[in-house]
Amino acid sequence: MTIPNSPFTIHHSQFIRPDIVGMEPYTPIVPFEVLSRQLGFAPEEIVKLDANENPYGPSPKALAAMQDGRYYHIYPDPAATELREAISGYVGVPAERLVVGMGADELIDLVLRVVLAPQDKVLDCPPSFGMYPFSTYVNLGQYVTVNRTADFGLDVAGIEAAVASHPPTKLLFLCSPNNPSGNLISDDDLRRLLQLPVLVVLDEAYIEFAQVQGATSHIGWTADYDNLCVLRTFSKLAGLAGLRVGYGAFPTWLVPHLMKIKQPYNVNVAANLAAQGALQDVAWLEEHVALLVQEREAMTAALAEFDFLRPFPSQSNFVLCEVVGRSAKELKLRLQSEYGVLVRHYSNELLNNYIRITAGRPQDTARLLAALRSEK
Ligand SMILES: Cc1ncc(COP(=O)(O)O)c(C=O)c1O
Repeated sequence: MTIPNSPFTIHHSQFIRPDIVGMEPYTPIVPFEVLSRQLGFAPEEIVKLDANENPYGPSPKALAAMQDGRYYHIYPDPAATELREAISGYVGVPAERLVVGMGADELIDLVLRVVLAPQDKVLDCPPSFGMYPFSTYVNLGQYVTVNRTADFGLDVAGIEAAVASHPPTKLLFLCSPNNPSGNLISDDDLRRLLQLPVLVVLDEAYIEFAQVQGATSHIGWTADYDNLCVLRTFSKLAGLAGLRVGYGAFPTWLVPHLMKIKQPYNVNVAANLAAQGALQDVAWLEEHVALLVQEREAMTAALAEFDFLRPFPSQSNFVLCEVVGRSAKELKLRLQSEYGVLVRHYSNELLNNYIRITAGRPQDTARLLAALRSEK
């Protein structure tokens, strides 16, 4: 390390936390414009089915709300008062128990920051969303896992045993519909897990796409359970992933601490206005969710026709497929480089040789299927 004229010999390793030096980075997706350059496809030719974004984008009222914004030169309301009231009207939870963040991602980090002392345990049920281990490590927690069963269900008894054998377990992440498997938690499992002496963070980023009989958000349960937090987002439902706005319903005792430690201006003015606009356009949002659900079902049926793919039924806006008899990674790379079709692939201990495909518009599915047929 160079410090002109300093009498000290200093190495940068004295400054960086040793656990951060050794930490695996989160692998984010490659941005659209970068990929377009790398692959030689124009952005509008790329079929982007790798990050569970909503291809229909923001609703007209969300776009109009941003267009009409007059106070971009003023810092945003730290309490996001109007947005929380609008969300309250949408989800039926009092605004006082809602916190908004720069995406659900920020709320995952905030809850951990409030709750964890160094070396406290956090329980996760992989395969699931990669930000749970990432944010646990950044917040000095110890990451404990209880793997899902072969059909991606929760091992409830295993979770109970892990809480008992790993004191102090402070927090349990549950994701429903689960990313990347697309299945839901049952009411019975959730009720049983809420009996544990842990804070349960139920991530419902994709809940609007769950349309089987009886599948509804558990956000209302936060009124009854003082150890339940439910996270939701505008990224998937409302096509606002690029603006970064999510929210959560929390127990009354937790809200002041989250509000106290969050960055004061975490949700920017444009994101705040767009989210409010989206909530004035719920019929439009629901119409487009219905189109994506329809496309998910059509895509699942079509994928099942390929002898090298085993799609899992999904209640989300993506479908997980086991790839059989060939390399999932190679398939992903070929789809990308030859056809401009982007999917996510997994080759790890729990998901060995899988791809996950986001539900898109009918023309996106058509491009995907044509590419897969050429790869038969
Ligand atoms: C399960 C899950 N939770 C949260 C998020 C992040 O949501 P946001 O864009 O609101 O940060 C994602 C994004 O892919 C996700 O898959």
